[in-house]
Amino acid sequence: MSRIAYVNGLYGRHAEASVHVEDRGYQFADGVYEVCGVRRGQLMDEALHMARLTRSLGELRIDWPVAPSAMPHILREVIRRNHLRNGLVYLQITRGVAPRDHAFPVNTPSSLVVTAKRFNMAKMEKSITQGVSVVTMPDQRWARRDIKSISLLPNILAKQAAREAGAYEAWLVDPQGYVTEGSSTNAWIVDSHGRIITRPLSNDILSGVTRLELLAAAKSEGLEVVERPFTVAEALKAREAFISASTATLIPVTRIDGVVLGNGEPGSISRRLRDAYEKSIKLT
Ligand code: PDD
Repeated sequence: MSRIAYVNGLYGRHAEASVHVEDRGYQFADGVYEVCGVRRGQLMDEALHMARLTRSLGELRIDWPVAPSAMPHILREVIRRNHLRNGLVYLQITRGVAPRDHAFPVNTPSSLVVTAKRFNMAKMEKSITQGVSVVTMPDQRWARRDIKSISLLPNILAKQAAREAGAYEAWLVDPQGYVTEGSSTNAWIVDSHGRIITRPLSNDILSGVTRLELLAAAKSEGLEVVERPFTVAEALKAREAFISASTATLIPVTRIDGVVLGNGEPGSISRRLRDAYEKSIKLT
């Protein structure tokens, strides 16, 4: 069965889907994106993804490529045409196609691409049940990490460095020694008192949809959460740690910079939070 992609109003074969060479996403990484989880053919946390998309577009003054009310239909059509049950939809909006000039083009419609991808459930289950390792490295990104921009070079370099170190994720560290977030995930630790700690929202990190849902799940489960920055030294002494993202919800971290946390297995608080989150998932 061939995959189907949506590109600027047309649904076509994924293998042949393309944008113009002067698309500003291609030339300048001048665009934003969202990754929405799909479960049983339905979108996870759609409202939160659309709210963040609206904010990213507004911050960068990129126009909507379609009426905002049309977006849910396009996403569902991509899910339907790909017969997607469990996976994700990727949507990208760029400032459109125009002769290369750094300043914004005039009278240029923005571009929209939507694709779908199936999850490798076995691989994901393995990460969740066994836990993963992370390595820390300096955060080299720009000062507006709250915007979900497609400009991801520092994230790519960090993820690649993690892979080459045999780790699943890179935790990025600010000049003061505090962890900001992962290259494509939010970062969490659990201290010796069982308190869940994660960095508060600011321009330093992306406001993860999964992060917001985990905070709500922790509250309903009666788990204590402290939103404050934590250092690498604290993380190395943590009882548990985990990462979160729409691609895999909560994944336990069992090793940081080669240091094994606890008994080296996913912790009980991470598991409780994950279970609470699973029960609270909003599908539409
Ligand atoms: N990444 N922080 C960063 C830098 C991210 O890129 C992501 C998501 C997150 C988690 O956000 P959410 O819970 O909304 O997925 C945090 C996506 C999945 C990606 O780039 O593929």
